[in-house]
Amino acid sequence: MEIVSTIKEVRENVKKWKKEGLSIGLVPTMGYLHEGHASLIVRAAQENDKVIVSDFVNPTQFAPNEDLESYPRNLERDAQVCQQSGADLIFHPSPEEMYYPDAVTFVNMTGPSDELCGKSRPIHFRGVCTVVSKLFNITTPDRAYFGQKDAQQLAVIKRMVRDLNFDIEIVGCPIIRENDGLAKSSRNTYLNPAERQAALIIHKALDDGKKLILDGEKNSAAVIAKISEIISAEPLARIDYVEIVSFPDIKVIDTIKGDILAAAAVYIGNTRLIDNFIIERQCT
Ligand code: PAJ
Repeated sequence: MEIVSTIKEVRENVKKWKKEGLSIGLVPTMGYLHEGHASLIVRAAQENDKVIVSDFVNPTQFAPNEDLESYPRNLERDAQVCQQSGADLIFHPSPEEMYYPDAVTFVNMTGPSDELCGKSRPIHFRGVCTVVSKLFNITTPDRAYFGQKDAQQLAVIKRMVRDLNFDIEIVGCPIIRENDGLAKSSRNTYLNPAERQAALIIHKALDDGKKLILDGEKNSAAVIAKISEIISAEPLARIDYVEIVSFPDIKVIDTIKGDILAAAAVYIGNTRLIDNFIIERQCT
């Protein structure tokens, strides 16, 4: 496995592989890799001849008041995870390598990016769509792998790929959780022991909401109220949003019908965590 930091080096590898007729899978990440990321890399290695993992804390998807500076970084550990999971190349660029200082071109979306995290983090998806487009153009993969942990992001990327005619298959992968149910996240490392315990409420509340829906509740507001009530009972938790939307077009719905995404963003102390569930059913 090789670690490179320039676009030129990535392109040299890609060119060589394409000449040999090899398929390429891309796993975009911001590093500080855990088993959630590893599951994407393993899947990519199963389905492609070569796997590129990008490891880049993308500044354009963070607002000035967010955790860009403190976001955890550890390339050495990331390299071990990548190696063990079957990656062939890590692309670890500097911000200067990725962005011209006078860049004026960005990928902007409306629709699926407007609700949920798009509402509470207004510039977030512009940054995500821009960096992912750039990574697609740099690595020209056959397939790219994204986790359902960020279900809105997955929907946004799929829509972008369709709208902009990227010839890339987007593969969505299930949420990997800790044994006690907490969704694995690089940001879990910010939590102190009391917060780590309190964070369990997010998955628990969503699970109870899911049961309500599976028992036949069709009113979004009732399910949102139930989930919110459970989370609010935890003193260390502060709700950013709890929402139910259609999936994958991410429109707020009053009546639960067809494929839906229930998503929550919750501050545990100062740490903002997200989690969700998707219910897929064609006609009810
Ligand atoms: P990051 O948060 O590092 O996540 C990289 C990928 O790993 C995303 O597709 C995310 O959904 C997936 N992932 C994270 N935790 C997971 C879990 N517990 N189970 C399954 N998959 C999980 O998402 C980003 O980075 C960035 O926005 C990026 C797409 C790289 C653009 O900068």
